[in-house]
Amino acid sequence: MTGNQTPQASLKATFKQYCRQEAETASLAKHLAASLAHWMGLTPEAHINISLEGDLGAGKTTFARHLIQGLGYGGKVKSPTYTLCEPYELQSNQQTFTAHHFDLYRMRDPLEWQEAGFAEHFDVPGFCLIEWPEKAEGTLPAFDIQILLTAGLQENERSIELNALSEKGKKIVVDIKQRPIDT
Ligand SMILES: Nc1ncnc2c1ncn2[C@@H]1O[C@H](COP(=O)(O)OP(=O)(O)O)[C@@H](O)[C@H]1O
Ligand SMILES: [Mg+2]
Repeated sequence: MTGNQTPQASLKATFKQYCRQEAETASLAKHLAASLAHWMGLTPEAHINISLEGDLGAGKTTFARHLIQGLGYGGKVKSPTYTLCEPYELQSNQQTFTAHHFDLYRMRDPLEWQEAGFAEHFDVPGFCLIEWPEKAEGTLPAFDIQILLTAGLQENERSIELNALSEKGKKIVVDIKQRPIDT
């Protein structure tokens, strides 16, 4: 869990997929990108918080990279290991929005993200993707979606679960369950 949130029974919306290789993880991330783009088209000023949870090497950065590129970003998506946060300006349906990709693994203090001035990133239209939210020890704004990545038996296998943690998150998770996968 993210340290400060437990899914409520009324919010129960989960989407779980077994990915046998990175290409399948990429396809799931692009599927989420389509649901996010759709949702942001309906509510242009909205902000979504997404946690990415799993061990080192589980594929959190890889998932974030495919998600951001799935929303049309053509450049490199680097791991924010040293910068803590990388911003990406995105466009969809003639709207501009921002993705902030965080990796809090190296924080020395749970409030370092606030001292670095990152609190304002949680209000801008778009979304935050946060690796290692547990390092902030419950001081982050509430999450809408939790993404759990777990390694499988084979080297490239991953199990990836999307859990809704808010009504907003539920709309997106329900949308992804109903959305046909583009191949
Ligand atoms: N099915 C898969 N999904 C995601 N990553 C995979 C998969 N199979 C192999 N990988 C590899 O696992 C590594 C995951 O690293 P990374 O995304 O940096 O992990 P994390 O951010 O969780 O520490 C990458 O080298 C990626 O290419
Ligand atoms: Mg990472």
